Amino acid sequence: MKFFIDTANLAQIREAHSLGILDGVTTNPSLMAKEGVKGERNIFDHYKKICEIVDGDISAEVISTDFEGMIAEGKKLAAIHKNIVVKVPMIKDGVKAIKWFSDNNIKTNCTLVFSSGQAILAAKAGATYVSPFIGRLDDTGWDGLALIRELHQIYTIQNFNTQILAASIRHVNHIIACASAGAHVCTSPLDSILGLLKHPLTDAGLLKFIEDSKKMQEAVLA
Ligand code: E4P
Repeated sequence: MKFFIDTANLAQIREAHSLGILDGVTTNPSLMAKEGVKGERNIFDHYKKICEIVDGDISAEVISTDFEGMIAEGKKLAAIHKNIVVKVPMIKDGVKAIKWFSDNNIKTNCTLVFSSGQAILAAKAGATYVSPFIGRLDDTGWDGLALIRELHQIYTIQNFNTQILAASIRHVNHIIACASAGAHVCTSPLDSILGLLKHPLTDAGLLKFIEDSKKMQEAVLA
């Protein structure tokens, strides 16, 4: 499973990248707004900076909701860098736009996906990635991980090339369950990625080893 970070924060992207396990980045208009990025030039510069940090697929979302607008925006976004993936919402014009981008060799990430029906449409249109939002499903009493399991089954049986990019990750157990359910990619906030490191027995064990290594050094010096 590939690891993407779900943020537009450059410091967090650098920190995750420094671990050596980062395969890409996802952003959305809310995450970009959180960083205070405003205006087309600044937005494009920000994506460029992300592309300079991570050599992997970087999702940049269109804001338009009509076919022509999405195509015009997507072309500009794709021209920023070879690693930009145009993120398109799962709406009727979005499906048409994904098909157009796919026919024109521009990578896409179909976002705001909450059902298998939507994911089948995204795959039929030729999306590079489909982003089921598992945290938002869980928040509203649905089962986000059940959707990942069903998509894995459908995409495998149907031999679809679209990659399942599990999004809206809330915690460490989501990442582990996505790996076990067959997600191709999991995009997570930095906290959840770093959370994978943690285990109290690791901390206690390391403390003991450090203490005993001091005794060992005392024994050598005595
Ligand atoms: C990423 O592609 C999605 O936009 C993001 O994971 C949504 O996460 P949220 O539900 O925490 O806003």
